Amino acid sequence: MTTKTRAKDENVIWHQHSVNKESRAKLKQQKPVVLWFTGLSGAGKSTIAGALENQLAELGYHTYLLDGDNVRHGLCNDLGFSDQDRRENIRRIGELAKLMADAGLIVLSAFISPHRAERQLVRDLLPEGEFLEVFVNAPLDVCEQRDPKGLYKKARAGQIANFTGIDSEYQAPLEPEIDLPAGELPIEALVDKCIIALKHKGIIV
Ligand code: ADX
Repeated sequence: MTTKTRAKDENVIWHQHSVNKESRAKLKQQKPVVLWFTGLSGAGKSTIAGALENQLAELGYHTYLLDGDNVRHGLCNDLGFSDQDRRENIRRIGELAKLMADAGLIVLSAFISPHRAERQLVRDLLPEGEFLEVFVNAPLDVCEQRDPKGLYKKARAGQIANFTGIDSEYQAPLEPEIDLPAGELPIEALVDKCIIALKHKGIIV
């Protein structure tokens, strides 16, 4: 039986517990939000999200960083890089991010998440204003030149199939809440941009 079919089972009933999202967030004195970093491999998603998480922790916020490579070692270690597997990867992460926001956390997620439809699916899981799409906007040639894990070289040599930007499509966000020129500015400047945007949106003070 698929997950979808199970969720529709009329014998599975949602239980509303009395400690709720609001009370958890209140204890933490913060507004829960999901900061969804998307971009090509090597664009800097994990690095920027990690540096931003450091700053938020220093400011006293409770956070959790979900990182593509790490999650693929555990929760999603049964998934590859076909369109179907990427869809399932993002669906699971979206549900996980939603639970973490329900726990009152500021969630940072760093996944290529190449398809607009899946990112929209995650957006639709959350209340208005609680999903902020952060486009780590570094062009393919810059990412390929950086090639921090040597994966572009392997993909060009035909040793990795379905590599994003090479033989698998990346659909750039059309209206991201935060657009980071990650091919031009240093990490600190990009993190500053995120902090300014979060203040502007009233997520942090
Ligand atoms: S996603 O497309 O499903 O969102 P995810 O962010 O989880 O991808 O994983 C991307 C990471 O897996 C990359 O940073 C890279 O290290 C590694 N990887 C391995 N194979 C591929 C591939 N075919 N395409 C893209 N990334 C790959």
